[in-house]
Amino acid sequence: MNTKNICDKEVVFIKVKKVFVCQECGNKSPKWLGKCPVCNSWNTFTEEQMFTKHTVLDNSALNQPVLISDLAFSEQRRHVTGISEFDRVLGGGAVPGSLVLIGGDPGIGKSTLLLQVAASLSKQNKVIYISGEESLAQIGIRSKRLHIDATNLYIVCETDIEAILSHLKNISPKAVIIDSIQTMTCRDINSVPGSIVQIRETTIRLMHYAKKYGTCIFIIGHVTKEGTLAGPKILEHMVDTVLYFEGERHQSFRILRTVKNRFGSTNEVGIFEMCDSGLKEVLNPSSVFIEQNKFDVPGSVIVASIEGTRPILVEIQALVTPTSFGMPRRMTAGVDQNRVALIMAVLEKRVGLNIASFDAYVNVVGGVKLLEPAVDLAIATALASSFKDKPVLDNMVVIGEIGLTGEIRQVSAIQRRLKEACKMGIKKALIPSMNIDKLLECDMDIYTADTLKHALEVALKTN
Ligand code: TYD
Ligand code: MG
Repeated sequence: MNTKNICDKEVVFIKVKKVFVCQECGNKSPKWLGKCPVCNSWNTFTEEQMFTKHTVLDNSALNQPVLISDLAFSEQRRHVTGISEFDRVLGGGAVPGSLVLIGGDPGIGKSTLLLQVAASLSKQNKVIYISGEESLAQIGIRSKRLHIDATNLYIVCETDIEAILSHLKNISPKAVIIDSIQTMTCRDINSVPGSIVQIRETTIRLMHYAKKYGTCIFIIGHVTKEGTLAGPKILEHMVDTVLYFEGERHQSFRILRTVKNRFGSTNEVGIFEMCDSGLKEVLNPSSVFIEQNKFDVPGSVIVASIEGTRPILVEIQALVTPTSFGMPRRMTAGVDQNRVALIMAVLEKRVGLNIASFDAYVNVVGGVKLLEPAVDLAIATALASSFKDKPVLDNMVVIGEIGLTGEIRQVSAIQRRLKEACKMGIKKALIPSMNIDKLLECDMDIYTADTLKHALEVALKTN
C-alpha cells in the first residue's frame, strides 16, 4: 500500500490490486471465471488493475451544503448548433458543462455527424475535434467532402487522455468531440484501450474537466453486436445525455434518438439523410416516409405516430402468406415482434380470421422504429388487408390501440396526428370512437370504431 502526504490536512492511501472484470457488464471477481454469474456471458473476464483510494479530507475543503431556495434559477445559455434536428434531440442545444454520448453501429455516420456539428458550433466558439481513429489526412478528405469551411475548429489526432486534457487547457474550447471513447487511454492504467477500466477512467477525467470549465463534451461510443454501447452501462450512467444514431446501412435515412437526457425530453428523434456531401436534415419526415405509397396495394397502411414531440406519418406494410414449414414465421422490422404476435392472436380470436397458421412479415418503411401502442390498429389492418388480399380505403390514415378483448382504445394527441395527416393531403382517418369527443374541427372524413372487427369492416370496404 502506498501512503502519500499530499498536504498537511489531506492523506491519500492508494492501494493497487488485480481483479478480473467482465467486459460486458463490469462485474468484478477476484479470480478468473469462464461465465459471468451476473450477465451470463462466456469468456468475458479480463485481468485489470484497480485503484482503491481512501482520502481523509479537511472539512473546510468540502463543498458546503446550500439551501435550494438560495439557488439562482438561471437557465444556462445553451450552445445552439444550428443543425435543428440535432438541437431538438438535445432539448434545444448543448448545455455547457455537459457530457453527451453518441452511440451507433460502425459506419452509420457518427464521425460525419459530429464533424458537421463541430463545424457548425465553431461559428460562434472554439471547438476541438479529437480523433483516435483517423489520421489528419483522412479527416482532411472528409472535411473537404462535407464542404467544411471553419476557422475556429481545431483537429488533433491523440489517444492519451493526459495529452488531450493539456490540449484542452491550452486551447480552452467551448465544445470538444472525442472520437471515440474506445480508443482513449489513461497512462496510469495497465489495461488495453476499450476495456471497462480505461473507458471509465478516461470518461471520469473528461467529466471532471467538463464540469470544472463548463465545456460541452461529445463522446462517440461504439456499439456491440447486441446493440448496446460497448463497455457500457457504466458509461450511460456517467454522462448527462445518451443519443443513439441508427438506421439501415443500405438505406440513406438515419435516426438520432434520445435514450437519456438530463436537460430535455427523451423519446425525441432527429431525422437525417446521408448524401454525397454528408448528412442533411430531414425537416418534414412525413413527406419522405409516405412518398412512394401506393394506396391500392393490399397490406399497406399509413399511420400517424408521435415520435418525441412531433407526429410522423409512416407506411406500415404486411405480407401474410401460407406457411411452408410446420412452424409459421413471424418477422418484423421497425415494430415489436411480440406485439405483432399479440395482434395476430386478437385477429384470430376476436375477428375470426384464420391467420395463426400463416407466415406474417411486417415492415415499417424507411427504417423507422414504431414503439407506441397507437400503431396497433394500423398493424392489424395491414395484416388483415394482406390476408384478405383487399386494399385499405384509399388516402386513409389509421390510428388506435388494440386491447386483448378486441376493443379499440383511445390514443393520445389525436389532434396533432390528424393535423399532420391533413397537412400531407390525407383525406380520411380511422380513429378510436373514444377519441371523437376530444377532436376539434378537422378537414377530413372521420371514421370511428370501437372494436377491431368494426374497424376492419370500415377500413377494408371496397372503395
Ligand atoms: P462515418 O461517419 O465514418 O461512420 P462512423 O463514424 O459511424 O463509423 O460514416 C461512414 C459512412 O458514411 C461511409 O459508409 C460513407 C458514408 N458517407 C457518405 O455517404 N457521404 C459522406 O459525405 C460521408 C462523409 C460519408
Ligand atoms: Mg467514426
